[in-house]
Amino acid sequence: MTSENKLSYCSFCETHKDKVKKLIVGDNVAICSDCIELCTSLIEDDSLVADEKPKEEVKYDPSSIKEYLDVHVVGQDSAKTVLSVAIANHYKRITYPPKDLEIAKGNVLLIGPTGSGKTLLAKTVAKYLKVPFVVADATSLTEAGYVGDDVESMISMLLNAAGGDPRLAERGIVFVDEIDKIARRSESASITRDVSGEGVQQALLKLVEGTVCRIPAGGGRKHPGGDMMEIDTKNILFISGGAFVGLKDLIGNRKNGSTIGFGADIKDKKVEGSLTEVTPDDLTKYGMIPEFIGRFTTTVSIGELSKEELLRVLTEVKNNYIDQYKYLLSIDNIKLEFSNDALEQIVDNCLTLKTGARGLHTEIERCLMPHMFNTKKYRENNVTEINITREQVLEPKSLI
Ligand SMILES: Nc1ncnc2c1ncn2[C@@H]1O[C@H](COP(=O)(O)OP(=O)(O)OP(=O)(O)O)[C@@H](O)[C@H]1O
Ligand SMILES: [Mg+2]
Repeated sequence: MTSENKLSYCSFCETHKDKVKKLIVGDNVAICSDCIELCTSLIEDDSLVADEKPKEEVKYDPSSIKEYLDVHVVGQDSAKTVLSVAIANHYKRITYPPKDLEIAKGNVLLIGPTGSGKTLLAKTVAKYLKVPFVVADATSLTEAGYVGDDVESMISMLLNAAGGDPRLAERGIVFVDEIDKIARRSESASITRDVSGEGVQQALLKLVEGTVCRIPAGGGRKHPGGDMMEIDTKNILFISGGAFVGLKDLIGNRKNGSTIGFGADIKDKKVEGSLTEVTPDDLTKYGMIPEFIGRFTTTVSIGELSKEELLRVLTEVKNNYIDQYKYLLSIDNIKLEFSNDALEQIVDNCLTLKTGARGLHTEIERCLMPHMFNTKKYRENNVTEINITREQVLEPKSLI
């Protein structure tokens, strides 16, 4: 075959130029349009694989997220597992968006008593992911047009937390605290608008699902003539948290209703409700509107911390209160120690107050108040060590 003849055929599939749409001829080689198409699809396939392969597999691995949470948050094991999976899926979805598949957004609802670690869990997740994080209080929110912060103010806060970078803000986490406080008052819809409750839930729907907000550039409040910036909320993760006081009873009642049989003694069969068994229906009965509940696909229930867990919060967890106060007193060259029964007494006091780990801080402050006030006097009298005993917890008083 002469070289001219040779270049009348595709060098790859050897088809004659008359039998293909086009044949592109180079110096010593030729390729037909069919082979070009095949090569292009092969290259595209390869890039698909490369694109979809997580570059930070470890970061979005639920077990690694849980490991990090374990260092900062005591107990709440199953909640941490569920939360880690939800977070990993969310960030995988937004970091490696599939080409022709829609993955629904799932926000997270955290239910648990006060001081059990709801805000701490959300905060720790944000720290792990290194994304902007804000805590907004649902009770301060109102529908647009009413006095108070409208729901879009949360996005302004997030933009602030992202240092004004909208792309960063769009990957952030908004923690909406006290969500139970915007439950509607009664199950039947009222004729008058419920400004603080159902109306706010309605206003949150669009934001939580994904909408484009126009907010003042650089965050802050809206003012006429100011520069506006568009933020798409579709990739922002919303975590709602609430104590839902009384929800346990609702769950208990539902369960009791279903267990009462013929002639059964109601008292004998009474079942205690547990937050881990919460259903969307229970939350609707509580006063959350179904559309709102539907947008929070992952419900995480967390329980009260046990005595052992509270002790670990006090002494073991990273940034624990004892270490914090030891440090504060070390600035005055005073060594701080607690006896075991003192620690137990502090925890017992918290259990009685039912304030969860939140109460530990108040308790420690109360115990150390006379000592912290008198550090100057201690220094002048060469008191360099404070040993907190059970008696000191029961009745804190200055050593001198
Ligand atoms: N499981 C926990 N592990 C470690 N520390 C905890 C835990 N739970 C609570 N704490 C401590 O108690 C403080 C209060 O906890 P947090 O703010 O997370 O409570 P919460 O569940 O959000 O309560 P509330 O419903 O009152 O907002 C935190 O700053 C944290 O130091
Ligand atoms: Mg909280």
